[in-house]
Amino acid sequence: MRILAIESSCDETAAAVVEDGRTVLSSVVASQIETHQKYGGVVPELASREHMRAITPVVDEALARAGVGWKELDAVACTYGPGLLGSLLVGVTYAKAISMAHGLPLLAVNHLEGHIHAVVLEHPQTALPALALIVSGGHTHLYHVRENFAYEAISKTRDDAAGEAYDKVAKLLGYPYPGGPILDKLAPYGNARGVRFTRPHMTSGNALDFSFSGMKTAVLRWTEANAVEEEIAARRRVGGTATVEEWLAVTPAATLDLIASFQAAVIDELLSRIGKLVEAHAVESVIITGGVACNAGLRRAAAASRIGVPIYFPTPGLSTDNAAMIGAAAFRKLRAGDVAGLDLRARASLPL
Ligand code: KG4
Ligand code: ZN
Repeated sequence: MRILAIESSCDETAAAVVEDGRTVLSSVVASQIETHQKYGGVVPELASREHMRAITPVVDEALARAGVGWKELDAVACTYGPGLLGSLLVGVTYAKAISMAHGLPLLAVNHLEGHIHAVVLEHPQTALPALALIVSGGHTHLYHVRENFAYEAISKTRDDAAGEAYDKVAKLLGYPYPGGPILDKLAPYGNARGVRFTRPHMTSGNALDFSFSGMKTAVLRWTEANAVEEEIAARRRVGGTATVEEWLAVTPAATLDLIASFQAAVIDELLSRIGKLVEAHAVESVIITGGVACNAGLRRAAAASRIGVPIYFPTPGLSTDNAAMIGAAAFRKLRAGDVAGLDLRARASLPL
């Protein structure tokens, strides 16, 4: 069974052809980073306009690379939430049009379920029940995934998402959007004990919730307490495509220590709950997925942690937003006969 999948929830226009939920025949991702970089973050209006421009060539390219014609497809799938409404609308409307024009069943996928299936796609041996940590620019969610992919939310962030914290801290320090990958590459050059980050304490509500805004504030205070205006200005003059060596040339040792300490604090915040929860829920595996799952420090720390069950990450190409993961999640829906109607609506907020 071949599914054409479309993903347009944020700033990536993506299409993929996936066979039987397992084999990725093609996966095309058009990034809008250049468009948003000069604003230091995603501008929703610009994102939807870019999706409109990119959607037809991206879908055509996915079909061409897969060597598959419309008649050889069994269904069309799209992300219908959560995400930017105007961006989601482009993918949902396009998928509906394809469904109608080619008589294909329409499958509606939750973006977060897609991120979880990015791991299942590559590691079919992932045993359930599992713990799934979704860490991206928009989400930091922890789920208990039971048999048959029944999801139960355990906790989420109270404020910023982990990727958002990376991007905001990078912006404060003068690095371009998206700052996560740059800080990750610089972190090994600093001393992770150089700057103290206090751990957030949840005094009310769900004690398992995450929080990252305190770390962002700590970095802001650090920039105020240290005379760093000149180095920040120097970094702002460097382009978005600079190499690690070029960033190192404009990043003094004290700033590298701050970056290393920030990264260690984020990783600790993400991983500290997992060991206890693995035991409490008797899960058989852990899934860590989403853009921040690309983080080399997080992967190293997860590998070194003695959690006792396998921890699965997607390969970097499937960690950030893509449509192959949507096609993989959609396959289960197709098999279950869980088909959407043409009245499907994009949903900016959509719980899993
Ligand atoms: O999953 P994704 O492509 O889009 C969302 O659904 O948000 O994630 C993008 C986010 C950005 O915030 C980016 O800075 C972050 O993932 N990211 C990283 C790394 N690579 C991407 N954060 C930390 N370390 C990385 N290596
Ligand atoms: Zn995502």
